[in-house]
Amino acid sequence: MSRRSTGLRIFGVIVFAIVVTLFAALIYAAFQNDGKPLDTFVPKGPSSQEIQNLVLPVFAVAGVVFVGVMGAVLFITWKFRTTSEDDPEEFPEQIHGRTGLEIGWTILPALILAGVAVGTVATIINLNKKEPDAIQVQVAGQQWWWQYKYDLNGDGNFDGPEDITTATEMVVPAGRPIQVTTTSNDVIHSFWIPGLNGKKDAVPGIRSPLKLEADEPGVYRGQCTEYCGLSHANMRMLVRAVEPGEYDTWVTNQLKGHAADPTDAKALAGKTTFKALCAQCHVIKGVNDEKMKTATVPLTAGVAPDLTHLMTRGTFAGSILNLYDPVDPNDPSVTLPASDVAAAGDPGAALTGGTVDTSRVNRVSLEAWLRNPNAIKPNYAQGGRGMPNLGLTEAQIDELVAYLETLN
Ligand code: CUA
Repeated sequence: MSRRSTGLRIFGVIVFAIVVTLFAALIYAAFQNDGKPLDTFVPKGPSSQEIQNLVLPVFAVAGVVFVGVMGAVLFITWKFRTTSEDDPEEFPEQIHGRTGLEIGWTILPALILAGVAVGTVATIINLNKKEPDAIQVQVAGQQWWWQYKYDLNGDGNFDGPEDITTATEMVVPAGRPIQVTTTSNDVIHSFWIPGLNGKKDAVPGIRSPLKLEADEPGVYRGQCTEYCGLSHANMRMLVRAVEPGEYDTWVTNQLKGHAADPTDAKALAGKTTFKALCAQCHVIKGVNDEKMKTATVPLTAGVAPDLTHLMTRGTFAGSILNLYDPVDPNDPSVTLPASDVAAAGDPGAALTGGTVDTSRVNRVSLEAWLRNPNAIKPNYAQGGRGMPNLGLTEAQIDELVAYLETLN
């Protein structure tokens, strides 16, 4: 054998080893559950478990087919390679037709695909099965946040006095099915909580069903997965599953408004500022909701999150900022920055979903957001998309935050 072909062979073996190692590392990394919130391989509810039960066997079958086919290709390439003893002029023996083999490699893939099809169709049917006692929630995507409306009395209307309108976070009782209907108020978005189910597009004028259920209380995060404009990447979602009793308390509180003025003078001044500058887009029940309903001038109400119970949420600004300081003085293992504004370039790095702890309001982020929202979350506020920079003074920001803190 010539030195050249030995060198080539060693080179080929090295390249092959590198490719196999990289491929194995990629597969291994994909299956690592290192607490990443959008991990698709860690089901936390019946629907996501259903998907997992389909994906893993199909992946295993695909893996066996891949290894088998690639192994055969490599083996045959090696076995029938040209060697130095071969006569370069000689033509290989020509054969045609091997009925048994041909029937075999037609039937085997057909059987494999039929098996996969049966599992897939069964999973789709199960995922779409309606649960009679499900809580009805309409999820509407907007540039760049999510609105949630609960039809609590099940009359098919989401805007009745017994219903709830909220934003940014969906609160659900653990262990109970939620029948979500996705839709959109502007462009196409996609609603995706990987721990609880697959993706569902949110399309204007169309209502699409999606079943969610969390096995355990906890915070389940998601991300808009349909490109929807400048801040698509900043359009997060968060499902907070709580114990049933806690959910009932939450519902009772959400139904209340904030008609009474705050007692604190600074907060009261903030309320005046809210009514003058913010109330054109944001609604606070008991403050401007009735006015919004009967307004004869065209208002842009409803294009911004309902703020009635802002402080009961763990996040704001489309779930990219913590409303509560993630640093817990009682838990020294938490080393996140005191303010996540610094991490706004990669909000997910600091976003915990947060435990609601009124002693740890994240004023730094709240103030920065009011000071210049566009610096944190790019938008086209001039076009009515996203939060505008209102040019607030530091005193106004201070007063507004004092008022927002009363919206519990
Ligand atoms: Cu909404 Cu992407």
